[in-house]
Formats: sequence, C-alpha cells, structure tokens
Amino acid sequence: MRKPMMAGNWKMNKTINEAVDLARAIREQVNDVDNVDRVVCPPFIDLPMVSSELMGSNIAVGAQNMHWEASGAFTGEISAPMLKNLATYVILGHSERRQFFCESDETVNKKALAALAAGLTPIICVGESLAQNEAGETQAFVSGQVKAALAGFTAEQMADIVIAYEPIWAIGTGKAATAQQANDICGGVVRQSVGELLGDEAAATIRILYGGSTNDKNIREIMEQPDIDGALIGGAALKVESYASMVQQTSEVYAAA
Ligand code: PGA
Repeated sequence: MRKPMMAGNWKMNKTINEAVDLARAIREQVNDVDNVDRVVCPPFIDLPMVSSELMGSNIAVGAQNMHWEASGAFTGEISAPMLKNLATYVILGHSERRQFFCESDETVNKKALAALAAGLTPIICVGESLAQNEAGETQAFVSGQVKAALAGFTAEQMADIVIAYEPIWAIGTGKAATAQQANDICGGVVRQSVGELLGDEAAATIRILYGGSTNDKNIREIMEQPDIDGALIGGAALKVESYASMVQQTSEVYAAA
C-alpha cells in the first residue's frame, strides 16, 4: 500500500521566526502519526532553522524549487547539493513557477533528474488552467506534462518520485475539485500516463497527490479516493490547527483501510 503524504507548501510566507514557531507547533501536534508522511516546505531562507527545529522528529522538510545545475554562475539560484542536508523533498514545476517564472516542461524534467541524482525526492506539479479545463483539454495536457517531466527516468525510480495534480483553477480559490474529479485525473490521467511510459508496476508504485483548496473540511473525502495518495496543501498548511487536523483525518482513513 502506498503511504499517504500531507505536504505543506508554505509558498512565500513565514519569516524565520514564524517558520520556526509553526514547525515546532506541527512537531508537537503530529510527530507521532506514523502512518502518514508529513512534509513542510518553507521558503529557502527558513530551511536551516526549520530543519534544525525538526531534527530528530518524524516531520520531513522540503524546498519549493531548485536549479538543475550543481553550481555555477546562476545568480539568485539554489542547487540540489546545497539543499541536501536541509531537505529531503523538493517541489518542482509548481504552476506559480511555470506561470510567473517561465518554467517549462523541459526545465522541470532537468530539475527532477538533478534532484533525484542528488538524493532529493521531487514533488512534481502538473495541472491544467481553467481555460484548458473548459475546452476539454485537461487529459491531453496533464498527460503531456507527466510524460515530459518523467523523460529519462526508470520504472524503479518511481518509488522516489511524487506527482502532485493541482488544477490551476483550484489553487487558492476555495474551489477544490470534487473528490471524484480529483481521483479521475489522478488515476485516469496521471497514473495512467506513468503506466504508459514505464509500465504497470511503476504506475502502482508512484505516489500521486491532489492539490488545490484542500482543507480540514474536504480532506477526508479526498483521502478516501483510491488513486489519491495525499495532498499538497497551500493556505491550510499555514495554520497548525488545519494542517494537524488534515494529518489526523488522513491517518484515520488509512487506519480504517
Ligand atoms: P492551496 O494551494 O491549498 O492554497 O489552494 C495549493 C498549492 O498551490 O500547492
């Protein structure tokens, strides 16, 4: 059975002190929920303090981006080897980075390969816009993103890759996809595409998250879906109450399964 994951994407929120406080509160509340992987992804500048606050805990740390080169003349960038002792995960190709920072399928693929080579687990984001959704292009577009992101990977590596399906129209809007819609795309498009590319076993192994306006009210139904293995959580991950509740509810769903 795939282990569920609740990953908090803190985006450009939390000063160092605020980040440490939130990490400590999360540790206090959900350190012992061992049937759910818990991941917090603060801004780069917060990583050293947050990772030291969480040292020895069961809460993992992730970054929100990285460059594909290991070092060099790339002003303002951070590489995988720099993240190595601070993070175990790295979010790649979030729609905000694709939209505002010119990330493409090609750079996302380069970053994913570099992350895995450095021992980081990539959380690769895919998802269609509202216009694409309304034009009936979701399946073809998301499948294309998945296949492009995974170019050059082997089936065995899918145990160390996470994909987050995040429809852009659901991110930060309060309008989550229905649990059924999310499951249809996570299973019928994302997992299906991994299978077409790398075979059935790879498809059965890879963890697929849903993201977009998840919260403590809708997470239970989402986590009851067979093809959804967790959530990439934005706004609701910034408060310990909602994040901890989402971890607890996921734990209950999986304990009962
Ligand atoms: P949201 O963000 O939960 O605030 O919609 C999700 C994300 O962008 O990862």
